[in-house]
Amino acid sequence: MLKGKHIILGITGGIAAYKSVSLLRLLIKAGAEVQVVITPSGKEFITPVTLSALSGKPVVSEFFTANTGEWHSHVDLGLWADAMIIAPATASTIGKMANGVADNMLVTTYLSAKSQVFVAPAMDLDMMAHPSTVANIERLRSYGNIIIEPTSGELASHLTGKGRMEEPEEIVKVIDRYFEAQCSMAGKRVLITAGPTYERLDPVRFIGNYSSGKMGYALAEEAARRGAKVTLVSGPVALKAVHPNIEVIAVESAVEMRDKCVACFADVDMAILSAAVADYAPVEVQERKIKREHDDVPVIKLKKNPDIAATLGGLKRAGQQLIGFALETDNEKANAIEKLRRKNLDKIVLNSLRDAGAGFGTDTNKVTVIDVAGKEVALPLMSKADVAVAIIDMLNV
Ligand code: PMT
Repeated sequence: MLKGKHIILGITGGIAAYKSVSLLRLLIKAGAEVQVVITPSGKEFITPVTLSALSGKPVVSEFFTANTGEWHSHVDLGLWADAMIIAPATASTIGKMANGVADNMLVTTYLSAKSQVFVAPAMDLDMMAHPSTVANIERLRSYGNIIIEPTSGELASHLTGKGRMEEPEEIVKVIDRYFEAQCSMAGKRVLITAGPTYERLDPVRFIGNYSSGKMGYALAEEAARRGAKVTLVSGPVALKAVHPNIEVIAVESAVEMRDKCVACFADVDMAILSAAVADYAPVEVQERKIKREHDDVPVIKLKKNPDIAATLGGLKRAGQQLIGFALETDNEKANAIEKLRRKNLDKIVLNSLRDAGAGFGTDTNKVTVIDVAGKEVALPLMSKADVAVAIIDMLNV
């Protein structure tokens, strides 16, 4: 899986830096293109000459090359990389990464990296166990970095405990598995709905809801990252899809969303319906702004909107998967199960407005995924990006 992949290997100043040479060799052997970025103290442990000879590229350490004044762009490096691995990661570098202290090329590159970052800590056992290190590692994990835990054994101090950098062969396996998961949806087509719908009242007003689209866009990015071609039918939101595999179809009302979804449903392998579709729309849309100056308060008559999930549930053919969401405030589970059955869904993702940090607008969500067989998987409060990973892990691909 590593063939042709662009990897940044970040090396910091720890005795385990000698293992980075083996790691570099294994990455190159697996067909990756590797750019080494080393901290000034990393160079005390391993020479750039060895690293550039093995990688076939000049090693980057400073912001400028002293004799030519050439600027090394951490932004370009961050865009170039398919993955970044910091091995060994010392307590000092982990602390800087966790707190955005960008005082060297490695941390600046880390902060600019758009790709997955792997961190392989290595340090003495007491440093490893210190609450500040533990908290910094947890913070890095919460930012989406993958921590490759150190193992236990004899350390450079001759003490025995947890702090040995994982072996290079194991680190390569972790990165390889990551890339394998990334292509697990190659060739699949996925329809995702996101955001609210707006139901027009007059040229300046609408009936809408608080959906930001964050949950649906996170699902779209995750499916696209794994190689799927994603059609994202999106209500009005302030978000932009990043991955090139995502085609965004912008809609406003539930009827428009239904029409776009129905038009592409036959071509997709699965649909995930996370949009907060307005259940009702005004019967009449006024062509001119409803004026406040009238004596009577206007009465707005509503009609039922189409149920997109139920419509697709009726069209579903064998082999297609249909996943809905349920946003509830009470009788959560019973209501979700009722929607799962009535709309002919395969799974329903329940989020409750009673849970802090869940539902509309937040960067986090707390969901329970229920399937037709009644199996339930309750997930803890996580970032919407992690919820998207967990949901997509549960699909049959
Ligand atoms: O966008 P965010 O700010 O990130 O918030 C995310 C979210 C809270 C919007 C999302 O997690 C969520 O719960 N989406 C579904 C919200 C909703 O409308 O739930 P519902 O229980 O009313 O609908 C059940 C299912 O039927 C949903 O899959 C919905 O998309 C679908 N539906 C509902 C009504 C309708 N007329 N047509 C539909 O297809």
